[in-house]
Amino acid sequence: MNILITGCNGQLGTEMRNLSAQHAGHRYFFTDVAELDITDREAVQRFVAENAIEVIVNCAAYTNVDKAEEDEATARLINAAATENLALSGAKIIHISTDYVFSGDETSPCRESDAVAPRTAYGRTKLEGEELLLRACPQAVIIRTAWLYSPYGNNFVKTMLRLGKERDELRVVNDQIGTPTYAEDLAKAIYTVIEAPEWHAGIYHFTDEGVCSWYDFTVEILRQAGITCKVTPIKSSEYAYKTPRPHYSVLDKTKIKATFGIAIPEWQESLTHCLQRL
Ligand SMILES: NC(=O)c1ccc[n+]([C@@H]2O[C@H](COP(=O)([O-])OP(=O)(O)OC[C@H]3O[C@@H](n4cnc5c(N)ncnc54)[C@H](OP(=O)(O)O)[C@@H]3O)[C@@H](O)[C@H]2O)c1
Repeated sequence: MNILITGCNGQLGTEMRNLSAQHAGHRYFFTDVAELDITDREAVQRFVAENAIEVIVNCAAYTNVDKAEEDEATARLINAAATENLALSGAKIIHISTDYVFSGDETSPCRESDAVAPRTAYGRTKLEGEELLLRACPQAVIIRTAWLYSPYGNNFVKTMLRLGKERDELRVVNDQIGTPTYAEDLAKAIYTVIEAPEWHAGIYHFTDEGVCSWYDFTVEILRQAGITCKVTPIKSSEYAYKTPRPHYSVLDKTKIKATFGIAIPEWQESLTHCLQRL
């Protein structure tokens, strides 16, 4: 298969590239904004036609939640309009979305069919991307994920490792609940979707297994890394967030596990793998 991976310099895109060697037999095209700006509809059409792309994995996105609040137009261009550009190209699409499409007020793991109600510009633009994609390309696969981290880019794990070494105490919220997702685990799941005997269109949820708060996550990061630093649990109201954060981000993964036979590791186990690489 000829496979295009957009946003290939990001966390997920880099893990897709790393794993591609283990998935020989395909022809890969790894692009980021310099090689293929997905907001340029004509460029997308041309690239897909010239390279006979059969599958697009869209790892490109506007992911800065706070900046999206100030510049929703740019977030919309990349998260929504560009997604439609990919959808109109005629290739099969695997698109990545987010827990931010939900309100964050839920109290049990969110299923794919649950009502969406984004509270942020980032969530709104990602939801619009899902809707435009499904309208233009009903055969698309959308995978919603949450709390993504990896050895690359900026993420919570790398920030806590740095702050844990610099400071005597970290104050971290314990009233926001979710599940960390190691980008390599998500990349493995995407390869399983690509190589499945049949194409199963639809929306799926994927995170690692388990549930924790950002406080729990921090305690475990520092414990596994052998960093001594006091961690104090605080409420979200005690932290100066620019943008409201969801209190509940746990996604129900039953559908992706049943459809593709994917076994998902516990988040603590995957954290160990990431820390070994850092
Ligand atoms: N990070 C999380 O915690 C999280 C949680 C839930 C869902 N997700 C979703 O998971 C997916 C992957 O996230 P990630 O953390 O790997 O993102 P990331 O590290 O921010 O990577 C996104 C990549 O897309 C590139 N990009 C931006 N605009 C582009 C354009 N117009 N054309 C082509 N490439 C463009 C970015 O380049 P620049 O850096 O130069 O802008 C970056 O290299 C995204 O869909 C995101 O919404 C992420």
